[in-house]
Amino acid sequence: MRIGVFDSGLGGLTVLSSLLKVARGGEFFYFGDTARVPYGIRSGEAVINYSLQCVGFLEKFGIDLLVVACNTASAKAFGVLKKSFPHMEIYEVITPAVEEVVKRASRKVGVIGTPATVESNIYPKRIKALKPSLEVVQKATPLFVPLVEEGLTDGPLVREAIKHYLLGWREKIDTLLLGCTHYPLLEGAIEELFPHWKIVNSASPLAQRLKPKLKGEGKKEVYLFFSDRTAFLERMISQIPLKGEVKGLEIVPLPQG
Ligand code: DGL
Repeated sequence: MRIGVFDSGLGGLTVLSSLLKVARGGEFFYFGDTARVPYGIRSGEAVINYSLQCVGFLEKFGIDLLVVACNTASAKAFGVLKKSFPHMEIYEVITPAVEEVVKRASRKVGVIGTPATVESNIYPKRIKALKPSLEVVQKATPLFVPLVEEGLTDGPLVREAIKHYLLGWREKIDTLLLGCTHYPLLEGAIEELFPHWKIVNSASPLAQRLKPKLKGEGKKEVYLFFSDRTAFLERMISQIPLKGEVKGLEIVPLPQG
């Protein structure tokens, strides 16, 4: 089985990591658009165009199942991708995360994500559709992305950034949804500051959902592709454990525009 995973950059490796944890075998092709990250501050049109190019690149490997690891692309481009690649089974990260939140939250949910994901309103809409009694608040927390990319996932600066965005929710919410690929790496630091919150990320629920499909026999082989060799590429890769054999890492520039 050939599984494609794409993201705006390096954060989607958290999703790949969760998939590899539950998979029995398969060939995993990851494309990270490091030349154009972040998607989270771009227009819907740009996110759609870039996403089409990323999936177009992965399509060449004969992908059976495609995962849109990026929350922003899941929010903005999923419908267009489904229409443009009807022969591929395509999954996004939002639906399983919403279902998990609805199962676990008791009263009020806080959702954090990129400005584009928050602007799309997709998480509150989906959560309320499944459980109208839940209250939902949301907030864009764009500083978290560069912190994580620089390898900062703990320490005073990270704690200040978390407090800056989330302190006001301390007693207001019971569940926090991490609606962005990078945020699972901050889960430990958030938990330390707000130990009474239930925390749901968007990588694990998707992996659990796909587990029955990822039972191909044999080895787990991983091929990594990025559109640019950016400064933190190697560091981010080493920060995220991949339970599989990394068979290659290639830089493949995509046409800009
Ligand atoms: N991958 C993006 C997401 O999950 C975060 C980084 C970006 O803004 O591109 O929304």
